[in-house]
Amino acid sequence: MSVNLAKTLWLLQNHQVVAIPTETVYGLAASIFSPQAIERVFAIKSRPRANPLIIHIANKEQLTFASWTMEGARALMHHFWPGPLTLVLPLKQTLSSCITSNLPTVAVRMPNHSLCRHLLEKSGPVVAPSANPSGKPSPTSAQHVIDDYNGSIPVLNGGICTSGVESTILIWDESSSKWKLGRLGALAAESFGTILGYVPELALKGEQAVCPGQHWRHYAPNAKLYPLQANVSASAVIGFSNKIYSKFPVKLILGSVHNPHECLNHLYQCLREIDKRAIDCGLVDMDFPDTGLWATLRERLTKAMSNSASH
Ligand code: TXA
Ligand code: MG
Repeated sequence: MSVNLAKTLWLLQNHQVVAIPTETVYGLAASIFSPQAIERVFAIKSRPRANPLIIHIANKEQLTFASWTMEGARALMHHFWPGPLTLVLPLKQTLSSCITSNLPTVAVRMPNHSLCRHLLEKSGPVVAPSANPSGKPSPTSAQHVIDDYNGSIPVLNGGICTSGVESTILIWDESSSKWKLGRLGALAAESFGTILGYVPELALKGEQAVCPGQHWRHYAPNAKLYPLQANVSASAVIGFSNKIYSKFPVKLILGSVHNPHECLNHLYQCLREIDKRAIDCGLVDMDFPDTGLWATLRERLTKAMSNSASH
């Protein structure tokens, strides 16, 4: 069900959950001051409780709950906010433990979407995980959210998301006094090089990702997906507009093999389309570069395929 801005505000103020647009993907929003609405967010998504949430803010004045005095924080905010960058910062003020999963840090971002920012200016900070049921491809349109929950969740329709893939997460690492990459996303790791003087490396604890959300199955359609090179027989291929896939009756096109932004923008739409068409097995063309935003595409597609690895 679609709701307008006024109704969205009312719902958030009255401890309810609403799906909201951002420039990356739609999020399932709840006020940071409503533990009961935040509980509902976890329940609706079937999200593991140990997976903390990102707080979304309209301006820096709303950032009262975290400290951001470390080197590079101001410059990152100045260059990339509003925009698809999430910063994991030390907590300054106690927040509901369900937001942070009891970590001493909190993830924050300032979305670059005008309707979303109008809302946040009035509502104050909200938590908003991607609105998909846990493990499934994220929603990049209001219709995706309606499809995922059979219309049972109110949605503020802000059109189609322009990035189409989640924010990049940078985590402040106290021990090295450097920013590390918690999640690849809509901003390439290389894009931070000129601001920070180094390209952030992946944040790892031993072999494990520091970002709790990276440990669970993600972005996977019901269809089983394999790399094109695996030579499994399938009726559908996910690939690029400037390549020919004559063996496949169904071609799901990400975009040009010269334009990673376009490909990321269509990624979740393609992963959803394969289920919509009730295709049970698809192949993915993984023959593309590794640098810049291509790394994000590779990571998302690899996760989408990982469910099929043992089959
Ligand atoms: O683009 C986005 O970031 C979207 C839109 C809706 O804003 N949101 C989003 O939220 O992707 P979600 O919940 O799907 O992913 C949040 C990620 C998870 O991997 C979570 O583990 C990580 O952020 N995270 C949250 N708080 C953290 C913290 N304190 N330390 C490390 N990782 C954290
Ligand atoms: Mg998510």
